Amino acid sequence: MINNHDRVVTRGLRDVAAAETKISFVDPMGTLYYLGYNIDDLVEHVCSEEVVYLLLYSKLPTKNELGEFRAQLISEMTLPEAVIECIKSAPKSSHPMEVLRTAVSHLSMYDSDRDYKSEQANKKRAIRLVAKVPTIVATLHRIRTNQQLVAPNEEFSFPENFLYLFRGKPADSEEKNVIDRYMTLHADHGFNASTFAARVTASTNADMYSAVTSAIGTLKGPLHGGASEKVMYMLDDINTEEEVEAYIQGMLDNKRKIMGFGHRIYQTEDPRTKHLREMAENLCCLTDNLNLYNLCIRIENVVHEKKNIFPNVDFYAAVTLNALGVPFEFFTPFFASSRIAGWTAHVIEQYEDAVLLRPSSMYVGRYGRPFVPIEKRKAADNL
Ligand code: SDX
Repeated sequence: MINNHDRVVTRGLRDVAAAETKISFVDPMGTLYYLGYNIDDLVEHVCSEEVVYLLLYSKLPTKNELGEFRAQLISEMTLPEAVIECIKSAPKSSHPMEVLRTAVSHLSMYDSDRDYKSEQANKKRAIRLVAKVPTIVATLHRIRTNQQLVAPNEEFSFPENFLYLFRGKPADSEEKNVIDRYMTLHADHGFNASTFAARVTASTNADMYSAVTSAIGTLKGPLHGGASEKVMYMLDDINTEEEVEAYIQGMLDNKRKIMGFGHRIYQTEDPRTKHLREMAENLCCLTDNLNLYNLCIRIENVVHEKKNIFPNVDFYAAVTLNALGVPFEFFTPFFASSRIAGWTAHVIEQYEDAVLLRPSSMYVGRYGRPFVPIEKRKAADNL
């Protein structure tokens, strides 16, 4: 065991490999792989249910396997009545991510075999969570907007059903394509903070619901998934392309981070960005909102000129969800509704790795403070 002061602290765990994984590889030079498949191939050639299947079973499904898997996901898009009541009871002022975090915890109490950890039980639980997290998000939105809850349609794909449950109307062909690609692009991403939080929880052999609750709480932060909502507030703040340079400079002068930009791993553009940028452009064109898209391009150019950083997944994902009519505060819950697939895959991998994730630390506090009984302590003392 290394003694305290010989330890080396790696701030933010930057470049520290905490464990091995076979699930995804985030190549700093700008490529993303899920189980060895390049994300560009997956976005172009497979549907998001195939990607979920790939993450959970480490292989792409056959046609029959896909049909059965899709039917299983859609059949699991139901919630226990008590969980719906839990969502209804959430204060109107609560953030959708708080309600999602609470509802997943509540859901665990209705999983009768939650303590069984066989591979089969874990896969079944993962599928249950993959199907129910988007349903919780959609249910909350319907309740908040005083609209009837909608049951899934077996004719629709799983992502189509997510949007259908959320909006109460079928997606058109462009929207089907967009929500499917959105779900693929957000499904997994190495040891990002929320996935690592899930793995730390799973490493104590805690149940999958506890691990996912940890992940949801972690994703909510604006340095992580919470950035997407903040992107839209920034875009709302900037009225014209002429204002961009001064606005961005003002944020940098105030040491504020530009939401939707930068990444811990990528040293070039996030490979997901080109797909989301194209989706955002198409939707802005279809919704006659090209001014917003042009503003984004201007912001990209100014931020790159000033800080040599690139847009990450959240920047154009925000514009895409906005064009689908998703309210800003639901952007991160949409992110969670896709990333639940990656989280559950990593939880299962961590159970298999079967090692407690417990780092050391370097103690830089005080030593040998003299003990003073409470009767003799004075407020001014700082012994
Ligand atoms: C996601 O990890 C994942 O894979 C996450 C994710 C996933 O799919 O799971 O990709 C999803 O969370 C994307 C990130 C969403 N967050 C944001 O958009 C928030 C804004 N971004 C930054 O806070 C930042 O870029 C981080 C948090 C994403 C990364 O932070 P790092 O790696 O700790 O980098 P840093 O803050 O140390 O910045 C390094 C330099 C600094 O410049 P100097 O002070 O050295 O001159 O780059 C600058 C930073 O000031 N910088 C930024 C910036 N990002 C980095 N400056 C202004 N705005 C930014 N957004």
